[in-house]
Amino acid sequence: MKKNKLVVITGCTRGLGRAMVGEFIRHGWTVAGCARTAEAVQKLQAAHPAPHFFSVCDVADEARVAGFCKEALAECGVPDLLLNNAAVVNTSAPLWEVGAEEFGRVVDVNIKGTASMMRHFMPAMLARGSGVVVNFSSGWGRSTSPEVAPYCATKHAIEGLSMAVAQETGGRVAVIPLNPGIIDTEMLRSCFGDGAAHYPGPEKWAVKAVPFLIRLGPGDNGRPLTAPGG
Ligand SMILES: NC(=O)c1ccc[n+]([C@@H]2O[C@H](COP(=O)([O-])OP(=O)(O)OC[C@H]3O[C@@H](n4cnc5c(N)ncnc54)[C@H](OP(=O)(O)O)[C@@H]3O)[C@@H](O)[C@H]2O)c1
Repeated sequence: MKKNKLVVITGCTRGLGRAMVGEFIRHGWTVAGCARTAEAVQKLQAAHPAPHFFSVCDVADEARVAGFCKEALAECGVPDLLLNNAAVVNTSAPLWEVGAEEFGRVVDVNIKGTASMMRHFMPAMLARGSGVVVNFSSGWGRSTSPEVAPYCATKHAIEGLSMAVAQETGGRVAVIPLNPGIIDTEMLRSCFGDGAAHYPGPEKWAVKAVPFLIRLGPGDNGRPLTAPGG
């Protein structure tokens, strides 16, 4: 019997990550996912039992990322698609009012977390010689706005990180920075307040975005892309 394709989704308990879980399963994929909130992770596993695999993992914790990747590879195999979706945004404020600890946390989750996931999954993907890594960037990875300087800095970094790693793989595994568009999630509410309601919700977004993600391949290596639906 043909094995289902495997997608790994970081930040799978809310927002875009949660919506993508449901949509990938609807398309016949196996999903492995992680996030920090144990109760939400357990609920996901109960709703989507094996072969799907969900585990608690803070992507900023290198040792835990190593453990999660090892478990996911053992339980589910080598990912066809790795979606580095987990991220945080700083509380809206000018840079000089953002404490060093909060700035560091945004860097640790958004940049180092993405790099850690690539560090621990890519050797197996490269050994197989196929697969796609999508690193969630933002419109604020290609432009800027006031009060989100730490977030903008990390998303600009995601663009550079992804394009440099794409040059390293030469397309054997495609690495792509993706702007998902603008979607009404908790993260957007923290930036736009009630103005977030003018944008589509994550489930509506995922209906268009997931088929787009499924179609990505070696020809997209190193191309900064924008998802439809947002
Ligand atoms: N929404 C938008 O309009 C928009 C626009 C541009 C870019 N993006 C990008 O799209 C991605 C998803 O955003 P979203 O709006 O869906 O955000 P969200 O609603 O805040 O959801 C973030 C998800 O990431 C998880 N997460 C946060 N920190 C984590 C960590 N350290 N380790 C593991 N999981 C973590 C959260 O779960 P736990 O709290 O359980 O860990 C949650 O499941 C992000 O990369 C974001 O920057 C979003």
